[in-house]
Amino acid sequence: MNEPAATEVDETARTRWSELVGLIEQARELYYEDDAATLSDAEYDLAFRELVELEDAHPELASADSPTQTVGGERSEMFEPVTHLRRLLSLDNAFSAQELDAWAARVERELGSVPSLLCELKVDGLAVDLVYERGRLTSLATRGDGRVGEDVTGNVRYLPAIPRSLRRTAAHPVPELVEVRGEMFFALADFTSLNDEMLAQGRSPFANARNAGAGTLRQRVDRREDELAQARERGSSTVARLQVELDRAVRRLSLLRLVVHGIGVWHGHEPVRQSEAYDALRGWGLPTSDRARVVPDMAGVGAYVEHYGEHRHDVEHEIDGVVVKVDELSLQDRLGSTSRAPRWAIAYKYPPEVVRTRLLGIEVNVGRTGRVTPFALMEPVHVAGSTVSMATLHNADEVRRKGVLIGDIVFLRKAGDVIPEVLGPVVEERDGTEREFVMPTHCPSCGTELAPSKEGDVDIRCPNARSCPSQLRERVFHVASRGALDIEGLGWKAANALLVDGIITDEGDVLGLRADQLAGSEFFTRDPGKDESGRPLSANSEKLLGQLEVAKARPLWRVLVALSIRHVGPTAAQALARELADLDRIAAASVEELAAVEGVGPIIAEAVVEWFAVDWHREVVRKWRAAGVRMSEERSDDGPRPLEGVTVVITGTLEGWTRDSATEAVQERGGKVSGSVSKKTDFVVAGENAGTKLDKARALGRPVLGAEGFQALLDGGAAAALERTVPA
Ligand code: IVH
Repeated sequence: MNEPAATEVDETARTRWSELVGLIEQARELYYEDDAATLSDAEYDLAFRELVELEDAHPELASADSPTQTVGGERSEMFEPVTHLRRLLSLDNAFSAQELDAWAARVERELGSVPSLLCELKVDGLAVDLVYERGRLTSLATRGDGRVGEDVTGNVRYLPAIPRSLRRTAAHPVPELVEVRGEMFFALADFTSLNDEMLAQGRSPFANARNAGAGTLRQRVDRREDELAQARERGSSTVARLQVELDRAVRRLSLLRLVVHGIGVWHGHEPVRQSEAYDALRGWGLPTSDRARVVPDMAGVGAYVEHYGEHRHDVEHEIDGVVVKVDELSLQDRLGSTSRAPRWAIAYKYPPEVVRTRLLGIEVNVGRTGRVTPFALMEPVHVAGSTVSMATLHNADEVRRKGVLIGDIVFLRKAGDVIPEVLGPVVEERDGTEREFVMPTHCPSCGTELAPSKEGDVDIRCPNARSCPSQLRERVFHVASRGALDIEGLGWKAANALLVDGIITDEGDVLGLRADQLAGSEFFTRDPGKDESGRPLSANSEKLLGQLEVAKARPLWRVLVALSIRHVGPTAAQALARELADLDRIAAASVEELAAVEGVGPIIAEAVVEWFAVDWHREVVRKWRAAGVRMSEERSDDGPRPLEGVTVVITGTLEGWTRDSATEAVQERGGKVSGSVSKKTDFVVAGENAGTKLDKARALGRPVLGAEGFQALLDGGAAAALERTVPA
């Protein structure tokens, strides 16, 4: 196996990412809008989980339009920062026995002898820092950047895993002050039952146990309680819902477990060894792992690693390796740390698992930019924690290089334990019925003859960019995606309906859509039904038209992303918008001028110039401009204006705000505050005793925000606020 080049890996990840996003968005839409699932719960869960893992491995993907950003209620709210008493370091990794031995050899060289070593499981959880003063817990914080974390002490009373005071025993006197580190996690069984519950409630399941843990710990339960108390006082109809939400949050917290694996500051009699420190911690009532072992040498480490290599799926929580630590604390001090990680510890990561499965077929996918990618369809098989049935094969050359035939038994692994990858055929298993894959010569979507975009290019593309149905649908869908104009009412199904019903010919028509155009489409006019509490939902057309208005006011960089210019993602788009501030200037700029922008290289610059050279591309821009889409960045010295173009009506009394201070907060961010509710109102912020304006907002179907939603609007802009609207 040749190691793929870095860019190739990125491209693989990107392709897989788009596939997963498409799959999930489509499944979600059908699930929520039609009560008809395209994926089984388990398949959905796996796709979602794979997406989160992929984004973890490639954070550059996560910033864009991802369903992982929309899991209801999982976005953390604001916490107070806490500076840890001592920095929480990370760990260096060893990916092979050789790397592990090299670490041990360095330790031995430094110390002049082989120290005894403490072996532990590496828990795939969420790192936390606990401070006990005179035996009482005074702080619980997340790791944050290692120096400053988030204060989640408020949740401690709902965390039975965390003792609020330390048990005093004769053998283990409690020090004046002790800082303890550990990992919070869900046991796999609890994680599975939580996800089953979420699915039963019609909510998106958690992607993986670690994410579930983070989402659970990072919630402001105290705020929920306040909200509930206030609602009770007012006799509000939201009491029942708030109570259910609070109960769910509390229940989830109660399932979180803790295992301690380190010490920070320790005032008082210090132990000699880390394993002894664990004895003390255990004596005080803190949960330590009973799987930790002290071994005399690397042979002992090898046996431990081997044992859990075989039993890694037998442990009650997810593990991502083994941590080996020098046990004696004075030796830890002698070895010291780099700025990132201690020299006295190392994390050994298990190699990716390789499994066999049957290659049932090879199909091709036509992407947004016309790229035609073959992908493998396989008999579903469990590998590295999830079931896999698809893997990208990149291009025809790659299929040939791997030497796989349709019908072959193939070796499959997850590259970096994340992206499914077909390694090659098991040749001995062939029986002669296998057949070679033939790359199509014509686009499976529109029948146009395929061609490499440049001479000698391994990728082939469908050149019919303007009207190939696959490309069109992907582009329209992309316009609405979270990394672009973020139009929630324009998902996969809506994009499809617009195209199939002939309402639009391409993405140029999207922003100027009018009610009368949507009136002829079943998808946009059918009765949307009622929500769980029997309130009528707004029709798809209304939803879309309302959101288009918000979309038109979005910042220039999002417009640039929405145009589907090759290589122009959020980072390049932000650089261009910042430097040139105007779409006409960007369109008129030369390759040299564009390439001179920091963050925009010659490849992107060329792609931008090429894009604007195409007639129908300029036509898209012209139509968007005519529809009122924002085409320039109004610069102001007062800082960013995230609420530019957003009109807010404030009514009732909002806790923590006067009418003036709330108005100013909106205006400071470039938003407009209006005195009366109309169709043009983007948000109605309703505090206590809100009256007729709230009624009017409901009647017009305008989004209503409470105090929390208002804060989200100020902190995260309109998109964030739309996720925090108050149901009627
Ligand atoms: S010791 C100074 N032990 O892994 C070394 N860490 O990838 C501090 N982790 O930030 C860590 N299990 O949150 C240690 N048994 C274990 C662990 C463990 C999980 C986490 C920890 C750390 C991360 C580094």
